[in-house]
Amino acid sequence: MLNRSLKILAGTLVSAGLIYGTASAAGEAEVLHWWTSGGEAAALKVLKDDFAKNGGTWKDMPVAGGGGDAAMQTLKARIVAGDPPTAAQIKGPSIQEWDDEGVVGPYAIDSVAKAENWDALLSSQVANHMKCDGFSKYCAAPVNIHRIDWFWANKKVLDANGLKMPTSWDEFNAAARKLKAAGIIPLAHGSQPWQDATVFEAVALGIGGNDFYQKAIVDLDMDALGGPTMVKVFDQMRILQGFTDEGSPGRDWNVATGMVMNGKAAFQIMGDWAKGEFTNAKMKPGIDYYCLPTPSDHGYLYNVDSFIFYSMKGESKIEGQKLLASLMMGKNFQKVFNLYKGSIPARLDVPMDEFDMCAKGSAADLNYSAMTGGLLPSFAHGMALRLAQKGAIQDVVTEHFNSDMSSQEAAKRLAKAVKDSM
Ligand code: BGC
Repeated sequence: MLNRSLKILAGTLVSAGLIYGTASAAGEAEVLHWWTSGGEAAALKVLKDDFAKNGGTWKDMPVAGGGGDAAMQTLKARIVAGDPPTAAQIKGPSIQEWDDEGVVGPYAIDSVAKAENWDALLSSQVANHMKCDGFSKYCAAPVNIHRIDWFWANKKVLDANGLKMPTSWDEFNAAARKLKAAGIIPLAHGSQPWQDATVFEAVALGIGGNDFYQKAIVDLDMDALGGPTMVKVFDQMRILQGFTDEGSPGRDWNVATGMVMNGKAAFQIMGDWAKGEFTNAKMKPGIDYYCLPTPSDHGYLYNVDSFIFYSMKGESKIEGQKLLASLMMGKNFQKVFNLYKGSIPARLDVPMDEFDMCAKGSAADLNYSAMTGGLLPSFAHGMALRLAQKGAIQDVVTEHFNSDMSSQEAAKRLAKAVKDSM
C-alpha cells in the first residue's frame, strides 16, 4: 500500500515536471515546429504555457509551411551544421532515420518514459514510432493522433443545395458537379505538393482499398504502384482537379479551410488540423460544418505528431528535453492540446467526453480499423516511408495533378520514381 502511494506520488511529481528540480533548474528548449496557423498556434500555446509554468524557458523556432516540408529542410541544415534544436516536430520513420545518423543517442528522455511507463500509456504502434536504438529506447514524444482521410464541408452550402455528406466517391463527384453548376467551388484546395499528396492518399485508400494502400504505398510493391488500380486512383485525382478553382496552385491549406468556412467553397479534403481552424473560429460540427471520413472500407490513415529530442550538450538543455517530454505526455495536456488541435490524444487513458463528434468518431473508427486491418500510416505526413521514397511519390502525384498527364503515364512514372529512389 505504502509502496503504491509512493509510486503515485512519484508519478504526480514527474507529470508536474517537479521532479526536475526548482523553477530555475527546469531547463530551456529551442523548439522547431511548423504550427503557425490560427488553430495550430492556439494548440501550441498550451504547451508553451505549461513549459513556462513549470519553470522552462521556451525559444520558439517556427518554420511556416503546412505539412512541414520547409521545416524539414531547416532542420536538416541545422543538424548538418552541428547545431540541432533541443526539440523538433518530426514524425514516423524519419525519427529512426535521424537515429541512424548518430545524432539522437544517448536518448535523454528514455529515463522519463521509463519512469512514467509510457509503454503502458500508448498503443505499441504509436510507441514504436517514438523509439530509437533498434526500437528499444524512447527518443521522441507523441502529442496526438491526426486522421487524414476526412471531408470537411460547409453545412449551409450543402443544405441550400439539397446535398448530404457523400458516402461514396461517385456520390461526391455527383454532388460536386451540382455545386459547380450552381457557381460554388466544390473543392477548396491548395495545390502544394503535400496537399496534393494528402488528397491522393485518401483517394488511394478509398478507390484501391486497405490492402491496395498497404501494398502500394507502404510495401512499395511495384505491380501495385504501376498497375490498373493505381490508374483508377489517378483518374479520380483528375476528376477532383476539375472541382478546384483557378486560385488553387500554391494556396495554403488554412486559406482553403477558410473558403469552406465562409461558404465560397463546399468541401475540403484535409487532415483534422482543419478542425482546429473551425474551432478557432468558434464554429461547431453538425451546426456550422460537417466532418465525415472520405469513402473507404473502414480505412483510417493515421498521422502522429511527435517531437524528437536530439543528442544535446549542457545540463539546462537536457533538463529542458526531459521536462518537455514529460509535459507532452501529461494526461491533462493531451486533452486540452487536442481539443484545440483537432486531433485525438495519443495516450490511451484520456477521457473523450469533452471532445466533439468528429473526435469521438475518430477515436471509435481508429479502434475499429485497428481490429479489422484498416489502420494505415499516412505517407503524405511522413508516417509510412523514409524521406526519399515519400518524396518520389509526392513529386509524381503533384506533377500529375498540375498537368494534363494521363493516369496511365502517372502510374508508370510512380513505379519508376519509387524504384529509382531505393
Ligand atoms: C501535421 C499537423 C499540421 C499539418 C498542417 C501535418 O503534417 O501533422 O500537425 O497541423 O501538417 O501543417
